[in-house]
Amino acid sequence: MLPSEVALSIIRKYMERFERGENIEEFKRDLIRDLLNHKVLIRTEDNTYTLVSQCREELMHSKIGALRESVEKFVIPSNLSYMKHPKILDLCSGIGYNSIGALHYNRGCRIDMVECCKEVLFLSLCLDIPYEEQEIIKDRIRAFLEGERSRGDINVYLGDGRDVIKRLEGGYNIVFHDAFSPQRDAVLYTLDFLREVYKKMDDNGVLISYSSSIPFRGALVEAGFVLSEGESVGRRRGITIAYKNLSPERKIRRIPLTDERLIGISTVGVPYRDPNLNLTHREIVENRDVERMEFKRRLLETGKYYSTKKVKQGKIDKKFLDIQRLNLNSSEIILKMREALGL
Ligand SMILES: C[S@@+](CC[C@H](N)C(=O)[O-])C[C@H]1O[C@@H](n2cnc3c(N)ncnc32)[C@H](O)[C@@H]1O
Repeated sequence: MLPSEVALSIIRKYMERFERGENIEEFKRDLIRDLLNHKVLIRTEDNTYTLVSQCREELMHSKIGALRESVEKFVIPSNLSYMKHPKILDLCSGIGYNSIGALHYNRGCRIDMVECCKEVLFLSLCLDIPYEEQEIIKDRIRAFLEGERSRGDINVYLGDGRDVIKRLEGGYNIVFHDAFSPQRDAVLYTLDFLREVYKKMDDNGVLISYSSSIPFRGALVEAGFVLSEGESVGRRRGITIAYKNLSPERKIRRIPLTDERLIGISTVGVPYRDPNLNLTHREIVENRDVERMEFKRRLLETGKYYSTKKVKQGKIDKKFLDIQRLNLNSSEIILKMREALGL
């Protein structure tokens, strides 16, 4: 999914002026005013801006603050300020808040920004964010839009994350996974895509997402990640923190018990799939619906089917509840539950 088409067509008019050599400083206020007048650019509570998406109900950021969201949901939970030259994959880099926030907390970050929408990249040159590190990102994006491809520590990749991921060198210590919600666009939440991301991560790598969706978390477990959860920011549910490996110095926080059960033994946990990384959102959702029905049929056949309500309430076979009492992390619990299901 992309930002609103109205927004993109307004931005395009100003991009043409930039391409003709006009100075952005001379027209950026007009661009912002146009977008605000069309109600496609929204000023959030921390006075930074976000765009409305193609589906009007979803914004690119939370109303509590675009920059605040980036710092509290991505930058701080990643612990990057304690790392030496962390290598970051900023998936769906958009206006660049996550990369700017990362540099603000650690100037030594090496960042690969991946974004499929050129207009959004251009918009980031026209917005002012109250962190001076924005200039580093602006310089890099400007150079990219002017045709310069690679320049050291900060790189911009324009394209669908599913295509770009194959070209990246990898070795990421941190992945910011900041796609639109899986309910509206599942293409970057599939098991197959997450497996590609997993391969590109350093052994000590961590992936962070604001999404706590059950099929997404299910896919992370199946791809080999160790699930953990961070504080909720402006939402009811906590963010997802997924480690490539366990390590003793890490404090792993279990996801809610209901989530473990839903992922482990219910059809809600069936992940999205996209074997050749080329399906549309609709195809991915339809295929998952078929897979869920097939899974439900097998559960019913073997007398192991529980409704979602019963799974949530814990009205299930005691052996699954006993597994949840073990001193294990959520990924281990979920895998044990699946093993006990025996399907
Ligand atoms: C929720 S916003 C992320 C906001 C962003 N991190 C920022 O700081 O502004 C999602 C972004 O992902 C981009 N996007 C959507 N689908 C994509 C895909 N398949 N590959 C790469 N980028 C994608 C959209 O254009 C949009 O800019």
